[in-house]
Amino acid sequence: MIYLDYAATTPVDQRVLDVMMPYFRESFGNPSSIHRFGQKAESAVDAAREKIASVLGCQSDEIIFTSGGSEADNLALRGAMMARKDSSKWILIAKTEHPAVSKTAIQLEKEYGFLLEWLDVNGHGQVTVESLAKAVCNHTTMASVMLANNEIGTINPIADLAEVAKANNILFHTDAVQAAAYLDVKVTKLGVDLMSLGGHKFYGPKGVGALYVRKGTGLVPHLTGGSQEFDLRAGTHNVPYIVGFAEGLRLAAEEREARTAHVRPMRDHIIGTVLEGISDSKLTGHPEQRLPNHASFVFNDVDGNLLLQLLESAGFACSSGSACKTGNPEPSEVVTALGHSRNWALGSLRITLGTGTTPEQVDSFLKTLPSLVEKARSLHR
Ligand SMILES: Cc1ncc(COP(=O)(O)O)c(C=O)c1O
Repeated sequence: MIYLDYAATTPVDQRVLDVMMPYFRESFGNPSSIHRFGQKAESAVDAAREKIASVLGCQSDEIIFTSGGSEADNLALRGAMMARKDSSKWILIAKTEHPAVSKTAIQLEKEYGFLLEWLDVNGHGQVTVESLAKAVCNHTTMASVMLANNEIGTINPIADLAEVAKANNILFHTDAVQAAAYLDVKVTKLGVDLMSLGGHKFYGPKGVGALYVRKGTGLVPHLTGGSQEFDLRAGTHNVPYIVGFAEGLRLAAEEREARTAHVRPMRDHIIGTVLEGISDSKLTGHPEQRLPNHASFVFNDVDGNLLLQLLESAGFACSSGSACKTGNPEPSEVVTALGHSRNWALGSLRITLGTGTTPEQVDSFLKTLPSLVEKARSLHR
């Protein structure tokens, strides 16, 4: 079986696992305890926070540990909006956001009386400075635009968008869950107020994430209880996972260039070969401003879920877009937002590469794909 779904999740790096292991049994203390067991665990959490802060270029007390990217998105949106419920009421989000952002924003509108406005994207799935500038008004509280898209790989011009937000006095959140594996996530460069990260996209463990919260950005805690995480997120720290998250992020930053150089040529080879060799195929997302490990397509008259099943039987693990959407017979909202008709949007395929991908695996995939697209097409008609 060949794994081509690194955007869904990545295996834990052995080096990450090695630094995590002592915190399951030897140094198992609760960081909130006064005694030595607690102190040891607490210093591991502190060290992890420092490590992350140095990758993000922020203060360590601007990092809030969460249970993953989804929780970081939830805390950012709900926390910021609920803290401002008595003033302005509008939230702006891109049409291509992950459900962790979009469903939170929809809930804020339905259940809490905020107003949600959707930011259009261009044909490549990017939010432009013009579209954000046009959408903001006096009542806008915050905007959320992802750094890189999970389904189509498109990278948004976050630093420029954050500048527009700043000029209009609104909070700016970015979901960098996909981006952190390959892009610079220095908040000093991005200029964001809030940024979400998730460990399992960069060879760290699942079930752990972080939210960067710029100092002075008031949030309402969404998990109440103990005073962990500066009173923003109660619950005993998951010490081994926090330690693993920090090491995964550190390695991603340190090895960014080498990892990019490994995947990009194979990714380019996939895009070129598919577009040239398969009729009625189109690239989705931006041709250049996209994650270096990410190739995504639509095929006319193909049932994307059927294609995935055929690929699975042939020994290839791919995705139709978001891992959360697989199996859904409706076309992806992200692909639809790019302007593709239903017949094209239903035939989406995402191939994402990683450290374990080899040119031989890619060649084998490229040899197999055309006949499976044809088969899916003939069954569709
Ligand atoms: C862009 C984006 N945001 C948020 C998430 C959710 O992250 P997690 O799985 O850590 O909750 C994902 C994961 O698929 C993602 O790709």
